[in-house]
Amino acid sequence: MAKHDLIVIGAGPGGYTAAIRAAQLGLNVACIEQEPALGGTCLRIGCIPSKAMLESSEHYWEAREKFAGHGVVLPEVKLDLATMLKRKDQVVTTLTKGVDGLFKKNKITRYLGHARIIGAGRVTVQSLKETIELEGRHILIATGSKPSPLPGVKLDGDRIGTSTEALAYPEVPKHLVVIGAGYIGLELGSVWRRLGAKVTVLEFLNRILPGMDDEIAAEAKKIFERQGLEFRLGVKVTGASAKGTECVVESEGGEPMKCDRVLLAVGRMPNTDDLGLESVGVKLDGKKRIAVDKHFATSAPGIFAIGDVIPGPMLAHKAEDEGVACVEQIVTGYGHVNYDAIPAVVYTQPEIGTVGKTEEQLKAEKVDYRKGSFPMLANARARTLGQTEGKIKILADAKTDRILGVHIIASHAGDLVNESAVAIGFGASSEDLARSCHAHPTLGEALREAALAVDNRTLNL
Ligand code: NAI
Repeated sequence: MAKHDLIVIGAGPGGYTAAIRAAQLGLNVACIEQEPALGGTCLRIGCIPSKAMLESSEHYWEAREKFAGHGVVLPEVKLDLATMLKRKDQVVTTLTKGVDGLFKKNKITRYLGHARIIGAGRVTVQSLKETIELEGRHILIATGSKPSPLPGVKLDGDRIGTSTEALAYPEVPKHLVVIGAGYIGLELGSVWRRLGAKVTVLEFLNRILPGMDDEIAAEAKKIFERQGLEFRLGVKVTGASAKGTECVVESEGGEPMKCDRVLLAVGRMPNTDDLGLESVGVKLDGKKRIAVDKHFATSAPGIFAIGDVIPGPMLAHKAEDEGVACVEQIVTGYGHVNYDAIPAVVYTQPEIGTVGKTEEQLKAEKVDYRKGSFPMLANARARTLGQTEGKIKILADAKTDRILGVHIIASHAGDLVNESAVAIGFGASSEDLARSCHAHPTLGEALREAALAVDNRTLNL
């Protein structure tokens, strides 16, 4: 029986990053993954293919709608969807193979098959041809999440599907109905809208992007409506079914809606089934997530869990940071994740980047804050790019001026938000940001201006 210091179950961003860090720290590491390709949902059927499709569809949209304004005149812009999908697959393959390379470089033993914990420090790996047993001093569960089902919505792996199907529709839908105005609904809804589909987004709540800062979400809705996304808010979907190419979506108190594709995007749930957790007494919470302490230890000795299977935002980078902190804790006795400084990004156009507290959270917590906003319209680089929609908003403690939240809706917000995460991580004040020189002309200058706006002293507005 092979023996390892650490057995990682799951090779998504959380698991594979934890495996690499553990190997760097001198552990003999195994990683068990049931899919032939490494990288998890994020690399195979999530973040990476969706960003490839967002990029390609954005080029198509720009070529049709914006190039002429730049003085670039094309005779005819045509969509070659097959090539677009092939490019996306190539991006995915390159990156998943890259993880294989990282495993080799770090001497991580990779097992292909389904992992099950069968006792303290004992794990089986079941593949098509055999079941083997491994022994590990520590076990780290990083099995991620899967799309949440919705009662009445009959997923058929084709017309009525989840993000997995929506990343590979073989033709542009005539009418795509998206259930859920969250991250996935908006990103993939945008992709197919740009490629020519009529897109209707049905959302249960009376707003889009629940959990995000209200003002930013409201601005996002207006912008996406201008791009042609149709929103129906306050709609509780109760069912969806397909007959041939025709789908019908039903909602409480509403008329049935006909379309040719349905994307279900109402959240994700942790993969905690069929792992043998009960055999060792790993406790779950009411949402089937694994309960852990601040060192990511489960209720079973020697077994740890990170990423989408534990509470917190279901984000790849949160899982990565937890993976690193968890193995550092195991090996060195110290490891930490600053949950106040985890950014979140929606990769629409403009992007939405956010980190720290929203205004609504600060109000609920009765924190006295000051706010500075700066519109992208007044930023020189945004003008040159022709991407002037959106704004940056900084929330700072009224007494200490410490930055508590940064909320951005702007082109490249996903990159802009990282500076804000560093600022929050280092406990910076809005004055610190306002006094840091920012290159000109850059979008980042709008962040500095928003910091200046906290003290009512913007220079370019
Ligand atoms: P989400 O939690 O972001 O949004 C789901 C939406 O569905 C919510 O607005 C909810 O109110 C709505 N909903 C729920 N039940 C409904 C019903 N019966 N009828 C109509 N609407 C209903 O979930 P989503 O978009 O599926 O994403 C799942 C997870 O994946 C998220 O937690 C996110 O963290 C992650 N993700 C992150 C991305 C990124 O970082 N850019 C991209 C894609 C996903």
